[in-house]
Amino acid sequence: MIIAVDGPAASGKGTIARALARHYGLPHLDTGLLYRAVAWGVLHEGNDPENEADALAACSFEDTLLEDPALRSEEMGRFASIVSAHPLVRAKLVKRQQRFARQRKGAVLDGRDIGTVIAPEADVKLFVTATPQTRARRRHEEMQRGGSTKSRDAVLADIRARDRRDMLRDAAPLKQAADAHLLDTSYLSIDAAVQRAIALVDARMKARLAS
Ligand code: CDP
Repeated sequence: MIIAVDGPAASGKGTIARALARHYGLPHLDTGLLYRAVAWGVLHEGNDPENEADALAACSFEDTLLEDPALRSEEMGRFASIVSAHPLVRAKLVKRQQRFARQRKGAVLDGRDIGTVIAPEADVKLFVTATPQTRARRRHEEMQRGGSTKSRDAVLADIRARDRRDMLRDAAPLKQAADAHLLDTSYLSIDAAVQRAIALVDARMKARLAS
């Protein structure tokens, strides 16, 4: 079974994808980490994330880089959204993600274009979203726990800028696949959102078995 989980920053998609992977015993790939790794490589070389050739040169990284906590900063998320808009960068990372999606035991992948580009054949697609204000509140709390002093308004402005860049780019923009279930987590606790996601997957699998 392939489960595709897409959605904007801080929507809860990562938490939901991890919980689904645990619940169904499937391997999980957070595809945002791949773009974060490219961004990290570009910056490490002192190169320019806006430059496609520079970003392309950073696409052949080892899997071990994905474990590096440095990739998880908000700043790296912002640079990831810049390098991820380059069509050649996306093309370079497609195979790696599709290999993961198509392994025999199945997989859960979360990102922006899993249901639309990477695994359009996925058995279940979820599009996880929440209002920009809710997402900014969550990201702000998360950042405060990590010692950041950035204001909630500044975090909201970053989230809106990232949404714009991710939705308006030509290459695999963030959008809900026609056959994806919408899961709005604005007013749901983590537990409630995960339970809802499991119910959606179960219902979808039951319907497929019956057809
Ligand atoms: O957790 P958060 O949503 O903040 O970030 P992420 O999922 O790690 O993604 C970071 C950036 O990578 C996003 O803003 C996207 O521009 C890009 N990305 C993408 O283009 N396609 C994906 N499948 C995953 C991430």
